[in-house]
Amino acid sequence: MEEEIIKSKLRVQKHGEVFTPKKIVKKMLNIPEIKDACENLTTKFLEPSAGEGAFLVEILDRKLKMVSEKYNNDLTSYESYSLLALTTLYGIELLEDNAQTCVMNMFQLYYDNYKEQVQNHNGIVKKKVLDSAKEIISSNIRQGNFLTRKAVDGKPLVFSEWYPVNMRKTTKNIKIQRTEYTLDEIYESVEKEPGMTISRDERRDLQLDIFDILEVEEIDDEVKKEMRYIPVNIIDVYKEEMEEV
Ligand SMILES: C[S@@+](CC[C@H](N)C(=O)[O-])C[C@H]1O[C@@H](n2cnc3c(N)ncnc32)[C@H](O)[C@@H]1O
Repeated sequence: MEEEIIKSKLRVQKHGEVFTPKKIVKKMLNIPEIKDACENLTTKFLEPSAGEGAFLVEILDRKLKMVSEKYNNDLTSYESYSLLALTTLYGIELLEDNAQTCVMNMFQLYYDNYKEQVQNHNGIVKKKVLDSAKEIISSNIRQGNFLTRKAVDGKPLVFSEWYPVNMRKTTKNIKIQRTEYTLDEIYESVEKEPGMTISRDERRDLQLDIFDILEVEEIDDEVKKEMRYIPVNIIDVYKEEMEEV
């Protein structure tokens, strides 16, 4: 089937939407330093106009290939390290349909690779691994405007840092400390206590209308509680476990 690189003339004019053909993506990612980065498990990538994930999907494919070569004798290690690979890929996309397709493309690739590993080990597909993959992908791929650093509803774009706290050569079960940052905070290199979240208050658009302000006052006590993520096994990140600060 021929690759579609344009959806409509209007979308090209309005959003500069032209998808990069697979062949070109591969060529660009084969530039020596970039190729090395793609094969490094912990190197992070952000695609600021992700489209349907042309680059992110190819980088994920390369990272997963590396994980499967390195950890093919142990399914638990594959599960941990493949999820860790997912945590390193971030994307921002303005248009809802593209952002959703990007998320689905990444999940499909993760799922296909995981299923293959499971079959090789005569194991079973664990729901918690897939749920954690979904949680990581949907937190890392956000619909929004990279230039204004805001989501389409005007709220700040929020991303999670996924920090492996117990990485040694022999580690099979990786523990992850999740911490949230707005894109503005990332630009300003703001340092935070591990686990801190962006509260519902902070996520609010600065241009609230009067009804929103009244509503905030009513529920103020309820939302004031500050929460932080606790370190968890990477296959349990889907639970989003937190404690009160
Ligand atoms: C030239 S396409 C490239 C897509 C993808 N990177 C690829 O190579 O296939 C640009 C994409 O950026 C999106 N976009 C345009 N303005 C944006 C903005 N301010 N913030 C985030 N995404 C934007 C468009 O919707 C479109 O999907």
